[in-house]
Amino acid sequence: VAVGIGVLGAGTVGGTLVRRLIEQGSVITARTGLELEVRRVAVRSLSKARPFSVPAGVLTDRPEDVISDPTVDLVVEVMGGREPAGTLVLAALAAGKPVVTANKELIASRGPELFAAAERAGVPLLFEAAVGGGIPIIRPLMETLAGEQIARVLGIVNGTTNYILTRMAEEGCPYGEALAEAQELGYAEADPSDDVNGTDAASKASILASLAFGTWVDPMQVYREGIEELQPADLVFAADLGYAVKLLAIAERLPGGVSARVHPALLPVEHPLAGVRGATNAVFIEGSSIGELVFSGPGAGGEPTAAAMLGDVIDAARELLAGSEVAPSVRFGPGEVIDFGEVVTRLYVRLEVEDRPGVLSRIASAFAEASVSICAVRQEGRGDRAMLIIVTHAAPEAQGRRAVESLRQLDVVQDVAAVLRVVGEGE
Ligand code: HSE
Repeated sequence: VAVGIGVLGAGTVGGTLVRRLIEQGSVITARTGLELEVRRVAVRSLSKARPFSVPAGVLTDRPEDVISDPTVDLVVEVMGGREPAGTLVLAALAAGKPVVTANKELIASRGPELFAAAERAGVPLLFEAAVGGGIPIIRPLMETLAGEQIARVLGIVNGTTNYILTRMAEEGCPYGEALAEAQELGYAEADPSDDVNGTDAASKASILASLAFGTWVDPMQVYREGIEELQPADLVFAADLGYAVKLLAIAERLPGGVSARVHPALLPVEHPLAGVRGATNAVFIEGSSIGELVFSGPGAGGEPTAAAMLGDVIDAARELLAGSEVAPSVRFGPGEVIDFGEVVTRLYVRLEVEDRPGVLSRIASAFAEASVSICAVRQEGRGDRAMLIIVTHAAPEAQGRRAVESLRQLDVVQDVAAVLRVVGEGE
Protein backbone atom coordinates (compact mmCIF):
# COMPACT_ATOMS: atom_id res chain seq x y z
CA VAL A 1 0.00 0.00 0.00
CA ALA A 2 1.31 3.44 -0.86
CA VAL A 3 1.48 6.20 1.74
CA GLY A 4 0.51 9.60 0.33
CA ILE A 5 2.88 12.40 1.27
CA GLY A 6 1.94 16.07 1.29
CA VAL A 7 4.71 18.66 1.53
CA LEU A 8 4.32 22.24 2.73
CA GLY A 9 7.14 24.30 1.21
CA ALA A 10 9.73 23.43 -1.43
CA GLY A 11 12.73 25.63 -0.66
CA THR A 12 16.29 24.37 -0.05
CA VAL A 13 15.26 21.50 2.25
CA GLY A 14 11.74 20.84 0.93
CA GLY A 15 12.88 20.77 -2.71
CA THR A 16 15.64 18.30 -1.87
CA LEU A 17 13.27 16.08 0.11
CA VAL A 18 10.69 15.92 -2.69
CA ARG A 19 13.41 15.13 -5.24
CA ARG A 20 14.75 12.32 -3.06
CA LEU A 21 11.29 10.87 -2.43
CA ILE A 22 10.72 10.76 -6.18
CA GLU A 23 14.17 9.71 -7.41
CA GLN A 24 14.96 7.22 -4.63
CA GLY A 25 11.47 5.79 -4.26
CA SER A 26 12.48 2.32 -5.44
CA VAL A 27 15.50 2.20 -3.13
CA ILE A 28 13.32 3.21 -0.18
CA THR A 29 10.76 0.55 -1.13
CA ALA A 30 13.47 -2.10 -1.47
CA ARG A 31 14.85 -1.27 1.99
CA THR A 32 11.68 -0.62 3.93
CA GLY A 33 8.83 -2.17 1.98
CA LEU A 34 7.13 1.22 1.98
CA GLU A 35 5.84 3.02 -1.08
CA LEU A 36 6.03 6.73 -0.43
CA GLU A 37 4.18 8.81 -3.00
CA VAL A 38 4.40 12.59 -3.18
CA ARG A 39 0.79 13.61 -3.80
CA ARG A 40 0.66 17.37 -3.09
CA VAL A 41 3.36 20.03 -2.69
CA ALA A 42 2.51 23.58 -1.60
CA VAL A 43 4.82 26.26 -2.99
CA ARG A 44 4.76 30.03 -2.88
CA SER A 45 5.22 30.46 -6.63
CA LEU A 46 3.84 27.96 -9.14
CA SER A 47 6.06 29.29 -11.93
CA LYS A 48 9.45 28.96 -10.19
CA ALA A 49 11.88 26.28 -11.45
CA ARG A 50 12.17 23.29 -9.04
CA PRO A 51 14.82 20.56 -8.62
CA PHE A 52 12.11 17.92 -9.20
CA SER A 53 9.31 17.29 -11.64
CA VAL A 54 5.83 16.22 -10.59
CA PRO A 55 2.64 15.53 -12.55
CA ALA A 56 0.30 18.45 -13.15
CA GLY A 57 -1.96 19.12 -10.20
CA VAL A 58 0.58 18.09 -7.56
CA LEU A 59 1.85 21.63 -7.07
CA THR A 60 -0.46 24.10 -5.40
CA ASP A 61 -0.02 27.57 -3.97
CA ARG A 62 -2.72 26.90 -1.34
CA PRO A 63 -1.18 25.00 1.60
CA GLU A 64 -4.67 24.17 2.96
CA ASP A 65 -5.16 21.99 -0.16
CA VAL A 66 -2.33 19.74 1.01
CA ILE A 67 -3.88 19.18 4.43
CA SER A 68 -7.41 18.60 3.16
CA ASP A 69 -6.43 16.35 0.24
CA PRO A 70 -7.88 12.92 1.12
CA THR A 71 -5.00 11.19 -0.70
CA VAL A 72 -2.46 12.84 1.61
CA ASP A 73 -1.85 10.54 4.61
CA LEU A 74 1.20 12.26 6.09
CA VAL A 75 2.25 15.91 6.08
CA VAL A 76 5.80 17.27 5.88
CA GLU A 77 6.20 20.90 6.96
CA VAL A 78 9.26 22.71 5.58
CA MET A 79 7.95 26.25 5.30
CA GLY A 80 9.74 27.47 8.43
CA GLY A 81 8.61 30.31 10.68
CA ARG A 82 5.79 30.33 13.21
CA GLU A 83 2.87 31.14 10.95
CA PRO A 84 1.17 29.92 8.88
CA ALA A 85 3.23 26.80 9.69
CA GLY A 86 1.74 26.48 13.21
CA THR A 87 -1.87 26.64 12.07
CA LEU A 88 -1.21 24.16 9.26
CA VAL A 89 0.59 21.66 11.50
CA LEU A 90 -2.27 21.79 14.02
CA ALA A 91 -4.80 21.33 11.19
CA ALA A 92 -2.90 18.30 9.87
CA LEU A 93 -2.73 16.72 13.34
CA ALA A 94 -6.42 17.45 13.95
CA ALA A 95 -7.14 15.63 10.67
CA GLY A 96 -5.28 12.60 12.09
CA LYS A 97 -2.28 13.00 9.77
CA PRO A 98 1.22 12.45 11.17
CA VAL A 99 3.48 15.47 10.78
CA VAL A 100 7.22 15.63 10.08
CA THR A 101 8.80 19.05 10.49
CA ALA A 102 12.25 20.68 10.56
CA ASN A 103 10.81 23.83 12.11
CA LYS A 104 12.89 24.51 15.23
CA GLU A 105 11.29 27.90 15.76
CA LEU A 106 7.80 26.38 15.78
CA ILE A 107 8.69 23.40 17.99
CA ALA A 108 10.62 25.60 20.43
CA SER A 109 7.93 28.26 20.73
CA ARG A 110 4.85 25.99 20.80
CA GLY A 111 6.17 22.52 21.62
CA PRO A 112 3.83 21.59 24.50
CA GLU A 113 0.73 22.65 22.55
CA LEU A 114 1.82 20.74 19.44
CA PHE A 115 2.77 17.58 21.35
CA ALA A 116 -0.59 17.67 23.13
CA ALA A 117 -2.37 17.99 19.77
CA ALA A 118 -0.41 15.01 18.38
CA GLU A 119 -1.23 12.97 21.48
CA ARG A 120 -4.95 13.82 21.19
CA ALA A 121 -4.91 12.78 17.55
CA GLY A 122 -2.88 9.65 18.33
CA VAL A 123 -0.38 10.36 15.55
CA PRO A 124 3.36 11.07 15.59
CA LEU A 125 4.88 14.55 15.36
CA LEU A 126 8.53 14.07 14.39
CA PHE A 127 11.24 16.75 14.22
CA GLU A 128 14.64 15.06 13.98
CA ALA A 129 15.88 17.73 11.54
CA ALA A 130 15.00 20.63 13.86
CA VAL A 131 18.29 20.39 15.77
CA GLY A 132 21.69 19.57 14.29
CA GLY A 133 20.50 19.16 10.66
CA GLY A 134 21.55 15.66 9.59
CA ILE A 135 22.76 14.50 13.04
CA PRO A 136 20.47 12.01 14.77
CA ILE A 137 20.10 13.75 18.14
CA ILE A 138 16.37 14.13 18.85
CA ARG A 139 15.65 10.39 18.70
CA PRO A 140 18.64 9.49 20.93
CA LEU A 141 17.48 12.05 23.50
CA MET A 142 13.83 11.01 23.38
CA GLU A 143 14.29 7.27 23.10
CA THR A 144 17.77 5.84 23.59
CA LEU A 145 18.60 8.10 26.54
CA ALA A 146 15.08 8.33 27.98
CA GLY A 147 16.24 6.47 31.10
CA GLU A 148 19.42 8.49 31.58
CA GLN A 149 19.84 11.31 34.09
CA ILE A 150 21.45 13.93 31.85
CA ALA A 151 23.54 16.56 33.65
CA ARG A 152 24.55 18.87 30.84
CA VAL A 153 24.32 19.29 27.07
CA LEU A 154 26.80 21.46 25.17
CA GLY A 155 26.09 22.02 21.50
CA ILE A 156 27.44 23.69 18.43
CA VAL A 157 24.02 23.89 16.82
CA ASN A 158 24.30 26.69 14.28
CA GLY A 159 26.27 25.88 11.15
CA THR A 160 26.38 29.44 9.84
CA THR A 161 28.09 30.89 12.92
CA ASN A 162 30.46 27.94 13.27
CA TYR A 163 31.40 28.39 9.62
CA ILE A 164 32.04 32.12 10.20
CA LEU A 165 34.10 31.51 13.36
CA THR A 166 36.17 28.83 11.64
CA ARG A 167 36.94 31.07 8.65
CA MET A 168 37.81 33.99 10.95
CA ALA A 169 40.02 31.92 13.28
CA GLU A 170 41.84 29.87 10.64
CA GLU A 171 42.24 32.33 7.81
CA GLY A 172 41.61 35.73 9.36
CA CYS A 173 38.66 36.05 6.96
CA PRO A 174 36.60 39.21 7.68
CA TYR A 175 33.25 38.57 9.38
CA GLY A 176 31.10 39.99 6.53
CA GLU A 177 32.85 37.93 3.90
CA ALA A 178 32.51 34.70 5.90
CA LEU A 179 28.79 35.37 6.47
CA ALA A 180 28.25 35.98 2.74
CA GLU A 181 29.92 32.62 2.01
CA ALA A 182 27.69 30.84 4.55
CA GLN A 183 24.64 32.34 2.85
CA GLU A 184 25.96 31.33 -0.55
CA LEU A 185 26.41 27.74 0.65
CA GLY A 186 22.76 27.59 1.80
CA TYR A 187 23.50 27.32 5.54
CA ALA A 188 21.99 30.60 6.72
CA GLU A 189 18.40 31.30 7.66
CA ALA A 190 16.27 33.46 5.33
CA ASP A 191 17.18 36.33 7.66
CA PRO A 192 20.79 35.61 8.65
CA SER A 193 20.52 37.85 11.70
CA ASP A 194 18.67 34.89 13.29
CA ASP A 195 21.92 32.93 12.92
CA VAL A 196 24.44 35.55 14.05
CA ASN A 197 22.41 36.94 16.96
CA GLY A 198 21.88 33.46 18.42
CA THR A 199 18.10 33.23 17.85
CA ASP A 200 18.36 30.03 15.81
CA ALA A 201 20.68 28.44 18.39
CA ALA A 202 18.35 29.57 21.20
CA SER A 203 15.43 27.68 19.61
CA LYS A 204 17.63 24.60 19.45
CA ALA A 205 18.86 25.12 23.04
CA SER A 206 15.21 25.29 24.14
CA ILE A 207 14.45 21.97 22.40
CA LEU A 208 17.61 20.24 23.68
CA ALA A 209 17.06 21.41 27.28
CA SER A 210 13.39 20.45 27.25
CA LEU A 211 14.04 16.96 25.89
CA ALA A 212 17.11 16.35 28.06
CA PHE A 213 15.50 17.38 31.34
CA GLY A 214 11.75 16.88 30.83
CA THR A 215 10.97 20.45 31.89
CA TRP A 216 9.78 22.71 29.11
CA VAL A 217 12.17 25.62 28.56
CA ASP A 218 10.66 28.36 26.43
CA PRO A 219 13.08 30.12 24.01
CA MET A 220 12.31 33.37 25.90
CA GLN A 221 13.92 31.75 28.95
CA VAL A 222 17.12 31.01 27.08
CA TYR A 223 19.83 33.62 27.79
CA ARG A 224 21.20 34.70 24.41
CA GLU A 225 24.26 36.46 23.01
CA GLY A 226 25.34 36.14 19.38
CA ILE A 227 28.65 36.57 17.59
CA GLU A 228 28.06 40.02 16.13
CA GLU A 229 30.10 41.81 18.80
CA LEU A 230 32.93 39.29 18.78
CA GLN A 231 36.29 40.92 17.99
CA PRO A 232 38.73 39.01 15.74
CA ALA A 233 41.46 39.94 18.28
CA ASP A 234 39.79 37.76 20.92
CA LEU A 235 39.92 34.72 18.64
CA VAL A 236 43.69 35.29 18.45
CA PHE A 237 44.16 35.91 22.21
CA ALA A 238 41.98 32.89 23.01
CA ALA A 239 44.06 30.69 20.69
CA ASP A 240 47.25 31.92 22.41
CA LEU A 241 45.77 30.92 25.75
CA GLY A 242 44.84 27.46 24.42
CA TYR A 243 41.15 28.01 23.65
CA ALA A 244 38.89 27.90 20.59
CA VAL A 245 35.93 30.31 20.48
CA LYS A 246 32.59 28.67 19.62
CA LEU A 247 28.96 29.77 19.76
CA LEU A 248 27.59 27.26 22.26
CA ALA A 249 24.10 26.22 23.27
CA ILE A 250 24.33 25.05 26.89
CA ALA A 251 21.61 23.23 28.81
CA GLU A 252 22.30 22.33 32.43
CA ARG A 253 20.53 20.56 35.23
CA LEU A 254 21.26 22.57 38.38
CA PRO A 255 20.33 21.94 42.02
CA GLY A 256 17.29 24.27 41.90
CA GLY A 257 16.12 23.64 38.34
CA VAL A 258 17.37 23.79 34.76
CA SER A 259 19.09 26.43 32.68
CA ALA A 260 19.61 27.06 28.98
CA ARG A 261 21.79 29.67 27.32
CA VAL A 262 23.52 30.56 24.06
CA HIS A 263 26.68 32.63 23.90
CA PRO A 264 30.18 32.60 22.45
CA ALA A 265 32.49 30.61 24.69
CA LEU A 266 36.16 29.81 25.05
CA LEU A 267 36.62 26.04 24.97
CA PRO A 268 39.95 24.38 25.80
CA VAL A 269 41.45 23.15 22.52
CA GLU A 270 41.42 19.58 23.82
CA HIS A 271 37.62 19.64 24.37
CA PRO A 272 35.76 17.42 21.83
CA LEU A 273 33.77 20.42 20.56
CA ALA A 274 36.80 22.70 20.08
CA GLY A 275 37.88 21.04 16.82
CA VAL A 276 34.43 21.09 15.20
CA ARG A 277 34.93 23.10 12.01
CA GLY A 278 32.86 24.80 9.34
CA ALA A 279 29.11 24.14 9.16
CA THR A 280 29.52 20.93 11.16
CA ASN A 281 27.38 20.73 14.28
CA ALA A 282 28.13 18.68 17.38
CA VAL A 283 26.27 17.90 20.57
CA PHE A 284 28.17 16.80 23.70
CA ILE A 285 26.08 15.08 26.38
CA GLU A 286 27.19 14.48 29.96
CA GLY A 287 25.10 11.75 31.56
CA SER A 288 25.29 10.40 35.09
CA SER A 289 25.74 6.77 34.12
CA ILE A 290 26.63 6.93 30.45
CA GLY A 291 29.51 9.40 30.86
CA GLU A 292 30.20 11.57 27.84
CA LEU A 293 28.65 11.19 24.39
CA VAL A 294 29.42 13.20 21.27
CA PHE A 295 27.17 13.38 18.22
CA SER A 296 28.53 15.29 15.26
CA GLY A 297 27.80 15.80 11.59
CA PRO A 298 26.50 18.22 9.00
CA GLY A 299 24.30 20.76 10.77
CA ALA A 300 22.86 22.73 7.88
CA GLY A 301 22.19 22.55 4.17
CA GLY A 302 19.52 20.92 2.02
CA GLU A 303 20.88 17.38 1.66
CA PRO A 304 21.68 16.54 5.31
CA THR A 305 18.51 18.16 6.63
CA ALA A 306 16.38 16.37 4.03
CA ALA A 307 18.11 13.08 4.96
CA ALA A 308 17.02 13.45 8.60
CA MET A 309 13.49 14.31 7.48
CA LEU A 310 13.36 11.31 5.18
CA GLY A 311 14.11 9.10 8.19
CA ASP A 312 11.19 10.69 10.05
CA VAL A 313 8.89 10.22 7.05
CA ILE A 314 9.79 6.51 6.90
CA ASP A 315 9.26 6.16 10.65
CA ALA A 316 5.88 7.94 10.56
CA ALA A 317 4.76 5.93 7.51
CA ARG A 318 5.62 2.68 9.31
CA GLU A 319 3.52 3.68 12.32
CA LEU A 320 0.68 4.70 10.03
CA LEU A 321 0.67 1.33 8.30
CA ALA A 322 1.04 -0.59 11.54
CA GLY A 323 -2.18 1.12 12.58
CA SER A 324 -1.33 0.76 16.25
CA GLU A 325 -1.92 3.46 18.81
CA VAL A 326 1.05 5.81 19.09
CA ALA A 327 2.39 6.03 22.63
CA PRO A 328 3.11 9.62 23.67
CA SER A 329 6.83 10.16 23.17
CA VAL A 330 7.45 13.08 25.48
CA ARG A 331 6.06 14.19 28.80
CA PHE A 332 7.05 17.43 30.47
CA GLY A 333 6.86 17.86 34.21
CA PRO A 334 6.96 21.02 36.25
CA GLY A 335 10.34 22.56 36.96
CA GLU A 336 12.10 25.80 37.62
CA VAL A 337 14.12 27.55 34.90
CA ILE A 338 17.02 29.21 36.69
CA ASP A 339 17.90 32.81 35.87
CA PHE A 340 21.28 33.12 34.14
CA GLY A 341 22.54 35.43 36.91
CA GLU A 342 22.53 32.47 39.30
CA VAL A 343 24.36 30.13 36.95
CA VAL A 344 28.04 29.58 37.71
CA THR A 345 30.33 30.80 34.92
CA ARG A 346 33.97 31.65 34.34
CA LEU A 347 34.81 34.91 32.61
CA TYR A 348 37.46 35.99 30.12
CA VAL A 349 37.69 39.78 30.34
CA ARG A 350 39.86 41.88 28.04
CA LEU A 351 40.63 45.40 29.18
CA GLU A 352 42.46 48.34 27.72
CA VAL A 353 44.25 49.97 30.60
CA GLU A 354 46.92 52.48 31.47
CA ASP A 355 50.23 50.83 32.30
CA ARG A 356 51.29 52.42 35.59
CA PRO A 357 51.69 51.46 39.25
CA GLY A 358 48.54 50.46 41.09
CA VAL A 359 46.39 49.68 38.02
CA LEU A 360 46.42 45.93 38.53
CA SER A 361 45.59 46.20 42.21
CA ARG A 362 42.53 48.38 41.52
CA ILE A 363 41.36 45.91 38.88
CA ALA A 364 41.96 42.99 41.23
CA SER A 365 39.94 44.82 43.92
CA ALA A 366 36.94 45.13 41.59
CA PHE A 367 36.92 41.34 41.24
CA ALA A 368 37.57 40.80 44.96
CA GLU A 369 34.70 43.10 45.97
CA ALA A 370 32.33 41.05 43.80
CA SER A 371 33.72 37.83 45.34
CA VAL A 372 35.11 36.65 42.04
CA SER A 373 38.46 34.90 42.19
CA ILE A 374 41.03 35.51 39.45
CA CYS A 375 42.61 32.47 37.82
CA ALA A 376 45.03 34.02 35.32
CA VAL A 377 46.20 37.46 34.21
CA ARG A 378 48.09 38.30 31.07
CA GLN A 379 49.37 41.61 29.81
CA GLU A 380 50.03 42.46 26.17
CA GLY A 381 51.84 45.66 25.25
CA ARG A 382 52.72 48.50 27.55
CA GLY A 383 52.39 52.24 27.94
CA ASP A 384 49.15 54.18 27.53
CA ARG A 385 47.07 51.38 26.14
CA ALA A 386 48.23 48.09 27.53
CA MET A 387 45.94 45.13 27.08
CA LEU A 388 45.04 43.07 30.10
CA ILE A 389 43.34 39.69 29.81
CA ILE A 390 41.85 38.24 32.96
CA VAL A 391 40.38 34.76 33.29
CA THR A 392 38.37 34.13 36.45
CA HIS A 393 37.52 31.08 38.49
CA ALA A 394 33.91 29.97 38.58
CA ALA A 395 31.40 32.28 40.28
CA PRO A 396 27.71 33.09 39.83
CA GLU A 397 27.29 35.09 36.61
CA ALA A 398 25.69 38.00 38.51
CA GLN A 399 28.86 38.43 40.59
CA GLY A 400 31.03 38.42 37.47
CA ARG A 401 28.78 41.06 35.96
CA ARG A 402 29.08 43.16 39.10
CA ALA A 403 32.87 43.02 38.80
CA VAL A 404 32.68 44.05 35.13
CA GLU A 405 30.38 46.98 36.01
CA SER A 406 32.91 48.20 38.59
CA LEU A 407 35.70 47.88 36.01
CA ARG A 408 33.77 50.14 33.65
CA GLN A 409 33.71 52.83 36.37
CA LEU A 410 37.48 52.77 36.97
CA ASP A 411 39.43 55.71 35.49
CA VAL A 412 42.45 53.44 34.86
CA VAL A 413 40.32 51.22 32.59
CA GLN A 414 39.97 52.85 29.19
CA ASP A 415 37.78 50.14 27.73
CA VAL A 416 36.21 46.82 28.66
CA ALA A 417 36.91 45.43 25.20
CA ALA A 418 35.47 41.94 25.65
CA VAL A 419 33.61 39.82 28.18
CA LEU A 420 33.34 36.16 27.20
CA ARG A 421 32.81 32.94 29.11
CA VAL A 422 35.12 29.98 29.50
CA VAL A 423 33.38 26.61 29.29
CA GLY A 424 34.60 23.03 29.54
CA GLU A 425 37.12 23.23 32.38
CA GLY A 426 36.89 24.05 36.07
CA GLU A 427 33.31 25.27 36.20
N1 HSE B 1 20.65 28.32 9.69
C1 HSE B 1 20.83 27.08 10.37
C2 HSE B 1 22.32 26.89 10.63
C3 HSE B 1 20.30 25.95 9.54
O1 HSE B 1 23.13 27.68 10.13
O2 HSE B 1 22.67 25.98 11.35
C4 HSE B 1 20.04 24.69 10.31
O3 HSE B 1 19.02 24.86 11.25
